[in-house]
Amino acid sequence: MSFLRELVCSKCGRRYLPAERPLICRSRDLGRLDVVYDYEELKEFLSRDALSRRPWAGGVWRYWELLPAARELGAPLNEGLTPLICARRLNEHVGLRRMWLKDETRNPTGSFKDRSMAVGVAKAVEMRMETVVTASSGNAASSLAAYAASLGLKCYAFVPEEVSIGKAAQLLTYGAKLFRVKAVEEGRDPTVQLMLKAVEAFGWYPCPSFGPFNPYQVEGPKTVVYEVAENLGWRFPDAILVPTGSACFLAGIWKGVRDLVELGLVGDDLPKLIAVQPEGNQPLVRAVRGGLSLGEVEPERSPRSIASGLLDPYPWDGDAAIEGIRRTGGTGVSVSDAEILDAVRLLANRAGVFAEPSGAVGLAAAMRLRDEGFFDESDELVTVVTGSGLKEVERLVSTVGEIPLITPDLEQLRVYVES
Ligand SMILES: Cc1ncc(COP(=O)(O)O)c(C=O)c1O
Ligand SMILES: [Zn+2]
Repeated sequence: MSFLRELVCSKCGRRYLPAERPLICRSRDLGRLDVVYDYEELKEFLSRDALSRRPWAGGVWRYWELLPAARELGAPLNEGLTPLICARRLNEHVGLRRMWLKDETRNPTGSFKDRSMAVGVAKAVEMRMETVVTASSGNAASSLAAYAASLGLKCYAFVPEEVSIGKAAQLLTYGAKLFRVKAVEEGRDPTVQLMLKAVEAFGWYPCPSFGPFNPYQVEGPKTVVYEVAENLGWRFPDAILVPTGSACFLAGIWKGVRDLVELGLVGDDLPKLIAVQPEGNQPLVRAVRGGLSLGEVEPERSPRSIASGLLDPYPWDGDAAIEGIRRTGGTGVSVSDAEILDAVRLLANRAGVFAEPSGAVGLAAAMRLRDEGFFDESDELVTVVTGSGLKEVERLVSTVGEIPLITPDLEQLRVYVES
């Protein structure tokens, strides 16, 4: 049974039947094929009670009626269903009493991208594709590699020259073929350029984690919002802070919010959606703050930040993200590398959550917005922690100082304990 009705191009409005299984708009306009469900029919199946009675299991497929691929084809990796943590020691320290951490580091490959790839790869199997390909800073690629391995598909991944070793090691161990791709033009992502050429030449299935090249995977991350609303007793928090690169995650979260409202599962008191980018790559934040549309957004010429997962020079799904931010009264925030590292440390030593820099920007932004008076102490926030610190140990270990080397001698230890 499927509740999928059609796919509609976000740029030209061209419509596709689900049975055509389109990936890219035939008008070649880089529009995203937005998936449309039959909400009226869905309402008969999806009540709060019906959902709450389901076991907290089965990964993103717990919400299979709202996903565009067949659940029986999905990998058994159990992504999603991550904890919503109220970290009291952290909250007291930052002066945000009602902040929750949505801990996406617990996903099978250590980032929220598993939600995307669970759906994207199930669709590849449905389409009888044998080889999948992606362009990514690392997390989406290692996730794709894991899901491809689980289901027996071949995987090619194009990543930036400076890819983190943790992500590369993960990818290669899952058995993917990995290529670092050199940049040749400012403001153009060389990994995306090569992925498109390979799709054209070899007929591979494109599965990057942004919408214009694969409309199915976009639907996976929205399950984060379903989980949050359900955990809070079928209501939204006041705001959700989202680490943002291509803006696919934010676009998905906006879709998830609309799904829940359309289905009458949650009232229409919408959560403010907050896009967070690093200062060294903030095209979407500039657009939000400057009142621009996506068409007016200039790609960042040379993105730079310790948050290596947030360096997409162009926010491919910025149209939907900007709409979500404006319609919910949200905003965009950029944070410095120093603020990001501070947030990494606070998450670890006050909440016990080990995040990579890209995963910690939400906390940095929450603190910034509290200082600016956008939030007050009693606002209920959900900060999404998107990726694990184990992905970037080489970057993080350089920030924590020397590790003492001593003999098993109490006097040597005492020097450190008492200093
Ligand atoms: C850890 C982490 N957080 C956030 C993002 C940003 O997601 P999006 O590109 O969908 O905006 C990424 C993307 O690679 C990521 O790896
Ligand atoms: Zn189109």
